Amino acid sequence: MLEVRDLHASYGHGDVLHGLNLGIAKGSITALIGANGAGKSTVMKTISGLMKPTQGTVRFMEQDISGVGAERVVRQGLALVPEGRKVFAPLTIAENLEMGAFQYLIKRDTSRYQTQLEFVLELFPKLKERMEQVAGTLSGGEQQMLAIGRALMSAPKVLLLDEPSMGLAPLIVKQIFEALATLAAQNLTVFICEQNSEITLRHADYGYVIESGRLVLAGRAEELAADARVKEAYLGG
Ligand SMILES: Nc1ncnc2c1ncn2[C@@H]1O[C@H](COP(=O)(O)OP(=O)(O)OP(=O)(O)O)[C@@H](O)[C@H]1O
Ligand SMILES: [Mg+2]
Repeated sequence: MLEVRDLHASYGHGDVLHGLNLGIAKGSITALIGANGAGKSTVMKTISGLMKPTQGTVRFMEQDISGVGAERVVRQGLALVPEGRKVFAPLTIAENLEMGAFQYLIKRDTSRYQTQLEFVLELFPKLKERMEQVAGTLSGGEQQMLAIGRALMSAPKVLLLDEPSMGLAPLIVKQIFEALATLAAQNLTVFICEQNSEITLRHADYGYVIESGRLVLAGRAEELAADARVKEAYLGG
């Protein structure tokens, strides 16, 4: 579904990604585990078109999407839930969700918009109760649900999530992962990067471990979770 080959990326002072190869299968939950500064967000930004790779390719459904730009990547069917959620704080929940559906609203495709809205509100009923609440006043967990909902409004085939568990209580994190499992069961492809390896690997099918811009381990999620090196580095021994 999504294939990353020999990916290099840089912020101008040498590469921070040094030739990554990743494969993300349709309908799977695939995890990228790594510590602070390992390069997780850089991987997400290059896949979602926010950054151009300095070398290598990103292929999505047999098409090369490397460097085509974020807007075209969304139109192709990939949506990013960014690190720190980045909801539009002064806008209401309803308006945030509309922003996620701009590609349909701009064409006045209100039926597509309605379908996606119903889908999102069924997944996160909490949002439905507060459509007119300003996003900046929501709790962290509600903002994360909104950020995921906003991404889903574009009707993506692949959902990319950058550390969705960050700063959230364990119960909320569990709810977020359950929602992701529901989506994957409906054949949505989920690619998620996290430091929180325990819950992530428990929900993932396949995982990769990144250190200093290089992949150091890859395997089925339950094998990775049981791997002594992963336990030592990411599961607190
Ligand atoms: N805007 C930037 N300008 C310069 N260097 C950057 C920038 N963003 C990230 N980096 C560097 O790139 C490397 C990878 O950073 P990245 O944000 O991808 O890591 P991460 O795994 O997402 O970390 P975290 O868990 O803290 O979010 C780090 O060395 C970081 O300092
Ligand atoms: Mg990051």
